[in-house]
Amino acid sequence: MFQPLRRRYLDVLASIYLFNEHRGYSSLDRVLAALRQRHPDATDFIAQVEKHRADERRHYRMFRVWFERQGRMPLAVDKSCAHIDRMIRLMFGCDIDGLDTDSVIASDARFARLCRIIVLTEQRGLWQVGKLLTMPVVASDRALLRIFQLIERDEPSHYLPYEGWLRTRGEARPRLAERMADWWLHKSLILFKLPLLFFNPALPRRTAWQDAGELPAAPA
Ligand SMILES: [Fe+2]
Ligand SMILES: [Fe+2]
Repeated sequence: MFQPLRRRYLDVLASIYLFNEHRGYSSLDRVLAALRQRHPDATDFIAQVEKHRADERRHYRMFRVWFERQGRMPLAVDKSCAHIDRMIRLMFGCDIDGLDTDSVIASDARFARLCRIIVLTEQRGLWQVGKLLTMPVVASDRALLRIFQLIERDEPSHYLPYEGWLRTRGEARPRLAERMADWWLHKSLILFKLPLLFFNPALPRRTAWQDAGELPAAPA
């Protein structure tokens, strides 16, 4: 691929991933707070969600380092690129920030829906990263290739805990509307959103990191 186009593609791709990883771990903080309050005895499940949260934060950091090593900030993509945000908007009528996680967890049916959305989003992520790993443009950047390989390794452990929780309650099977939402949102990102970002020379870069105000993560 022509070098500037290759760089632009990877720039857009990594900017979308960085945004999604941050949305992922910051929204899991809210799920965890509500889960600890509503189901304090579900210690195994809580530990698995905590591990999921830690993984997503690590993924975010890997993309951040990828940008830092190039001496530039990511492109300023927004929630319209975040699969989990768009899924929640379609299924709950608001984005993650507006979601009342306490009331969601207080309702078994609504919490089951939230878990199914997380399962679908993570499974979509695993499928997508499998595709990316076969693309020469991704393989041309060894650091980025390594990041996607690590994400692929982590992804199954992200949806299996929620699937297990749902299975014990007979709620694991995604509803048709949830599967259609997942399919459509993925298609619209790939067919419309990504090309629009790619061909938009006026797209600004972020001026600050999403985690600028957070405490540093404890060493693993
Ligand atoms: Fe991730
Ligand atoms: Fe994940």
